[in-house]
This record gives sequence, structure tokens and C-alpha cells, in this order.
Amino acid sequence: MIKIRNLSFMYENRTILNKIDLSVKANERLVLLGSSGSGKSTLLKLIAGFIAPDSGDIVIGSKVVSKEGSVIVPPHRRAISMVFQDLALWPHMNVGENIAFGLKMHKVPPKERAEKVKAFLALVGLPAYEKKKTEALSGGEQQRVALARALVLSPKVVLMDEPLSSLDEALNIRLRQEIITLQEKLGFTLVYVTHNREEGQQIAQRIVEIQNGRIVERSVF
Ligand SMILES: Nc1ncnc2c1ncn2[C@@H]1O[C@H](COP(=O)(O)OP(=O)(O)OP(=O)(O)O)[C@@H](O)[C@H]1O
Ligand SMILES: [Mg+2]
Repeated sequence: MIKIRNLSFMYENRTILNKIDLSVKANERLVLLGSSGSGKSTLLKLIAGFIAPDSGDIVIGSKVVSKEGSVIVPPHRRAISMVFQDLALWPHMNVGENIAFGLKMHKVPPKERAEKVKAFLALVGLPAYEKKKTEALSGGEQQRVALARALVLSPKVVLMDEPLSSLDEALNIRLRQEIITLQEKLGFTLVYVTHNREEGQQIAQRIVEIQNGRIVERSVF
């Protein structure tokens, strides 16, 4: 599904990612584990197409989407969704509008949009939350809305960048299982970033460990 070949990324003459080789299978749950500054978010941004590699390339499906110095397929054409650690929901939109936004961009008709918003809110355990203001939600509820917003576009690949790290431990553990359940039910390729080994081990079918921009260890569960 995703093939990363000899990928390097520099920032002001510093090597941030160093010759990364990594393949992710369709519908696999892969966890990228590494300490702060190891290059995890940078790798996700490269996969999403927000930045271009300095060398190497990225193939998604059968298409080369990025290669040396250029983003060939832009982020919105990659069938990828991303969930960020701290990208809050859009505060000027209610819950339903947050989830519908991407559908609107993709010109999905209003009736279908409304049905999908309802269905995905139910899926993340927040039925009847549509009209609520985002500021009225707890942290866990906000993360659930962020998940619904990412999943409603039926992406083939979902990138999650420490999506649970701002939650307390009990909620973090509960949402791990919910993410696994959603992934199994909907079927998408998941690349999940965390610095928490236990969290990674629970989510992953396979863990890849990154240190100073290099992959240092791979393990399968
Ligand atoms: N646009 C940028 N400007 C400045 N430094 C950058 C930029 N992009 C990446 N870096 C540097 O690259 C390194 C890797 O950053 P990255 O955000 O990928 O780490 P991370 O593994 O996600 O860390 P964290 O767990 O803290 O989120 C860091 O040293 C960071 O300072
Ligand atoms: Mg990061």
C-alpha cells in the first residue's frame, strides 16, 4: 500500500530523516515509535504530502506520490486522512459542520453529507452530538469527533500523530481499543505515531522504532 524507499529529509543542513526504507501493507496497523525529535511527525508529513523529500521516493498504491525534491500527488488527492495531536476542531463550526467540512470540499451532496455525519458520529459513540459546539466537549469527545472527521472521507490510509497523548490514562487506554475496532470495521491502512511503547504495542500489528531519523528496530506482534 505504502512504499517508502531510501527517503531522506534535511532541514537547514541537518539530516532529519536518514535513508528510511519502510513498506506498509493494505489494512495493516503499523506503529512508528520514537522519542521526541526522532522524526516521527516529519515522516508522517512526508507520507501525507505536506513536504517533499530531499531524496528517495514514496509510492502509494501503484503511484509515485513524492520523489526527490517534489510532491507529485498533492495531499488532498492521496486518499489519506490525518489526525493530529493538538489540531483542535474548528471552533467556529459545530460538531456536525466539522465532520461535514471535508465532504463539502469533495462536493458530496447535502443529503448524503447529513447521512454520513450521523453515521460516523454514531460510529465513534457520539450520536446526537451534531449540533453541539466543539468547546462544549470534553477532551475525549473532541478526539472522537476528530476521528470521525478523519474517517468520514473513507480514506485508504489514515495517519495518526500521537492522537491520544493529551488524554488522561484511562481515556487513552479506552480510545486505543476504539481505534482498533474502527480500523477493523472500516478497513484502512493505519500509520500510528506514539512515544509510548505500551500504547504502541497495543495498537500495532507491527512496530517500527525510529531514533535520530533512522529506523533502528522492527518487531511483529
Ligand atoms: N519545519 C521545521 N523547522 C524546524 N525544525 C524542524 C522542522 N521540521 C523538523 N524539524 C526538526 O526535525 C526533528 C524531528 O522533528 P519531528 O517533529 O519529526 O519529531 P517527532 O519525532 O515528531 O517529535 P515529537 O515526539 O516531539 O513530536 C526535530 O529536531 C525538529 O526540530
Ligand atoms: Mg511529533
